[in-house]
Amino acid sequence: MEATLAIFLAALLGSIPFGLLLTRAAGLGDIRSIGSGNIGATNVLRTGNKKLAAATLLLDMLKGAAAVWLVAWIAPTYAPWAAVAAVLGHCYTPWLGFQGGKGMATALGVMLGLAWPIFVVSSLTWLAVAKLSKRSSAGSLSAIVIAPLAALIFATPQAALGLLLLGAVVVWRHKGNIQRLLAGTEPRIGQGK
Ligand code: G3P
Repeated sequence: MEATLAIFLAALLGSIPFGLLLTRAAGLGDIRSIGSGNIGATNVLRTGNKKLAAATLLLDMLKGAAAVWLVAWIAPTYAPWAAVAAVLGHCYTPWLGFQGGKGMATALGVMLGLAWPIFVVSSLTWLAVAKLSKRSSAGSLSAIVIAPLAALIFATPQAALGLLLLGAVVVWRHKGNIQRLLAGTEPRIGQGK
């Protein structure tokens, strides 16, 4: 019962749409009508406000980490399911009619919560691929694929399974980006659409 409630709280934490809240508070309007329409840091960067993009990235990561830490504190074996719940909460937030973000920053946060080396491996993969390709989505897709493998080395098979499941959600949410990457029309980081 306690674990179920904690996982529900993890989903609730994940559902906070920081990108939307911060851009609105800064008077930039609705982030969903800018660039890709996503509520994540990459799209917040398209407003030209780097600090707001960094704050969105940090807060989206922190809510993921906090969700895992909360559940791990109450019922450690349920931590991988808190990770899945937090990313689902972000991607299908009830506050935006179940149309949320793509989940990458929250996924990085849950990795930090599960085991920091997974976070390091995945973040470095994101940085390397995003720098080479100049596309955030290419970085995200590579980073999310590598995460379950890193979990097998640095954490548990349960953590790897959780990351595989939430990774499938993140990849699904990037389906438009995948189509644009294949068509060669995905904009560079910081570029509009
Ligand atoms: O994590 C989101 C990023 O990979 C893509 O964002 O706004 O370019 O669709 P966006």
